[in-house]
Amino acid sequence: MKKLILATVASLSMFMAVTAVAGDAAAGKTKSASCGGCHGMDGNSLIPMYPKLAGQNEAYIVKQVKDFKANGDRQNAIMLGMVAALTDEDAADIGAYFQSQSTKDAAPFDADKIALGRELYKGGDLQKGIPACQGCHGPTGAGVAGAGYPQLGGQYVDYTLAQLKAFKDGSRKNDANMLMRSIVEKMSEAEMTAVANYIASLK
Ligand code: HEC
Ligand code: HEC
Repeated sequence: MKKLILATVASLSMFMAVTAVAGDAAAGKTKSASCGGCHGMDGNSLIPMYPKLAGQNEAYIVKQVKDFKANGDRQNAIMLGMVAALTDEDAADIGAYFQSQSTKDAAPFDADKIALGRELYKGGDLQKGIPACQGCHGPTGAGVAGAGYPQLGGQYVDYTLAQLKAFKDGSRKNDANMLMRSIVEKMSEAEMTAVANYIASLK
């Protein structure tokens, strides 16, 4: 039985790895020209309200493009306009391009918030039932490309905090199985702010 489960998991992750390389990064570079104005031509956005996409995994980017398009579980008026004309192939190509880039710098952060942020990120809070973020987002915030778990490291505090709050108030509800919503419901604003600052410091 155990062997069967292992075999299933292995073939599933192989399937995911195959879908994750579907995009053509060279084509994506050209297609992403219109994204660069906000996200940076290489995905290193210079403006805190626009998330960095450099190094973000293709599977996650493709999913977000779909979710913005559907205009239900993740709503954003700016992105709705940007993704309207993208085909699935465009999204995969653009995703492959940004995945091939890397985050240049950590984002500005408040050093006073790092200790609590690190504690939550690395170990969670057993008493409150908050799991360690690194379990899914990786010890350095690189995410897990094969599973489509997003990279977080080096992201702007404003953006990360806005997303945590959106999961908390339910305005962002595109996380399968309520993975993120079930976590942030147990977190205070001070804890979300601390962890967002720690994430910004990761590179
Ligand atoms: C006018 C500015 C602007 C342009 C141009 C733009 N975006 Fe965005 N993008 C945003 C904003 C603002 C957000 C954050 C939305 C939110 O708060 O949910 C975002 C979020 C995203 C996200 C989600 C990132 C994450 O970490 O979850 C992806 C993926 C994305 N954009 C892809 C694109 C692509 C692909 C293009 C080009 C076709 C593009 N964007 C063009 C402003 C822009
Ligand atoms: C069980 C796995 C899991 C754990 C543990 C987890 N996350 Fe997530 N997280 C996810 C998944 C999956 C997504 C992507 C949801 C989607 O499809 O949009 C996500 C999305 C996010 C996003 C949005 C990223 C973006 O670019 O918009 C942030 C921020 C985030 N998580 C922060 C955290 C923090 C902080 C913790 C720890 C307190 C944490 N996560 C713990 C799985 C997890």
